[in-house]
Amino acid sequence: MEEPSADSATGTASEQDILAVTDRRTGQQYELPITDDTIQAMDLRGIKVNEGDFGMMPFDPGLSNTAVCRSSVCFIDGEQGILEYSGYRIEELAEHCSYMEVCYLVLNRELPNAEQLAEFEAEVRADMVMPESVMRLQNAMDPDLHPMSMLQTSLAALAGEYPEAAEVLEPEVRRQHTMRLIAMTPVIAALGFRFRTGAGPIDIRPELSYSENFLHMMLTPTGEEPNVAPAMVKAMDALLVLHADHEQNCSTNAVRAVGSSQVNPYSAVTAGAAALHGPLHGGANQKVLEMLESIEDLADVPAFLESCQSGDKRLMGFGHRVYKNYDPRAKVIGKLAGDVVDVAGPNRMLEIAQALEKTAIEDDYFTKRKLFPNVDFYSGMIYSAMGFCPRSFTVFFAVGRMVGWLAHWEEMMADVNNRIVRPRQIYTGYPRRDFVPMDQR
Ligand code: CMC
Repeated sequence: MEEPSADSATGTASEQDILAVTDRRTGQQYELPITDDTIQAMDLRGIKVNEGDFGMMPFDPGLSNTAVCRSSVCFIDGEQGILEYSGYRIEELAEHCSYMEVCYLVLNRELPNAEQLAEFEAEVRADMVMPESVMRLQNAMDPDLHPMSMLQTSLAALAGEYPEAAEVLEPEVRRQHTMRLIAMTPVIAALGFRFRTGAGPIDIRPELSYSENFLHMMLTPTGEEPNVAPAMVKAMDALLVLHADHEQNCSTNAVRAVGSSQVNPYSAVTAGAAALHGPLHGGANQKVLEMLESIEDLADVPAFLESCQSGDKRLMGFGHRVYKNYDPRAKVIGKLAGDVVDVAGPNRMLEIAQALEKTAIEDDYFTKRKLFPNVDFYSGMIYSAMGFCPRSFTVFFAVGRMVGWLAHWEEMMADVNNRIVRPRQIYTGYPRRDFVPMDQR
C-alpha cells in the first residue's frame, strides 16, 4: 500500500511553491509559501497598508474554501463523486465490510484482521450498557421531545457518569471513552426509541452483531427472543458504514471546534449531534420523507420542482457543498432502497422519489447548479420500510457518524499544533460613541 508522502504528512513547502502577490494599494510585493495548494491564513496578516494596520484576513463565511486542519481519516473528490475511508472506496466498504470493521478502519486507518476485529468487537460489546442515571433521565423526558434532542441530552449526561473523561490529554483515557461512545450510542438511541413507543427496557445479546443488537434493542418486544430479518440487519449495517465519516462536515466541524477547548468528549459529541439535527445537515433525512409524504401524486412532481426553483420550497436530499456530481453514498443507498422496498411491494414514496430525481437531474435549474441526490435522499425510505417514523431517522445518522466524530476528535487532540478554534470577524457595528444615560434614551 502506498504511504502518504512526507510532504502531505508534514506540510512543508518546497522553494518554488510560492504565491507572489502585489498589493496595488501600496505597490508592495509579498511571497506566500504554498503547501498542498494552500497558503497560511496568518501569512496574509503581514500584508498591511501601514505599520498600524491590522493586516489582511481571508473572508469565508460557511468556510467554503478554507482548510481548517490536516486529516487522514477520509478523502472526498466532490467533482468526481468519490469518497474513500483511508484509501478504500465507500462502495466496496459498504458491500464487503461490517460496520465494526469500518469503525476499526476509521479509528486506526487500517482494516482489521480477524483477530483484531474479534478483540475490537468484544471491547465494544462489553461497553454496550446504559448507565442507570441516563435511563432515569430518559424516563423523565417528555416522550414528544424530538429523538435528536433526547440523544443530545443523554450524551451530555454521560459526562457526569464518567468524570475521568475530562482528562483529554491522556491518550488511553481518550481511547477508552471513544470505545464507550461507539458502544453506548446505539443503546441510548434504542432505549430512547423504546421509551417513546412505550416498550420496556431490554438488554443486548452477546451473540448478536452491533447492527443486529441495535435493531434487536429497538424492535424486539420485551420478554421475546430477538428475531430481526437478516435483510434488515444487512441494510442497517451498510447504512451505518455509509454514514461513518465525511471529513469536515458541519457536525464534525462542531465536534472539532468544541473539542478544541479541551472539554470532555461527551460534551464535544453533543455539539456534533446538535449540528447534525439541523435540516440542512443530518436532519434532511426526516425532511425528505415529510416532503415525499406531502406530494400526493406523481403528476404533482413537476409543480413541486417548480416551487423549488422559485425558492418557495427546497428539494430536500438534493445538493451538497462538496459534491458537484452524484454523491457516491446516494448511489449505493438508492440501490439498497430499491432492494429493500421491492421486497415490501410497490411503494408510492419510492416512485415519487424516483420521479423527482429523474425530472430534476434533467432540468436546467438543477444541472446548472450541479444539484444531485445526496446521502439523505433515499436513506429515509429504507428506515421507513423498516417501520421507523421520520423523527427517528437522524438518530440513525448519528449512530453511524459517532465514529467519524471521534476519529477527528482524536486526530485533533493528538496533534501538538492543536489550538483552540477561535475565528475572526469583520465588525459592522457602530464606531465608539458616548454613553447615553437611561433618562436621555
Ligand atoms: N433545492 C433547490 N435549490 C437548491 C438546493 C436544493 N436542495 N440546494 C442548493 N440549491 C440552490 C441554491 O438555492 C443556490 O441557488 P442560487 O445560486 O440561484 O442562489 C445554489 O443551488 C447553491 O446552493 P447553496 O445553498 O449556496 O449551496 P450550499 O453549499 O451552501 O448548501 C446544502 C448545501 C446541502 C445545504 C444545500 O444544497 C441544501 O440545502 N440541500 C437540501 C438539504 C439537504 O439535503 N441537506 C443534506 C446534505 S447531505 C448530508 C450531510 O452531510 O449533511
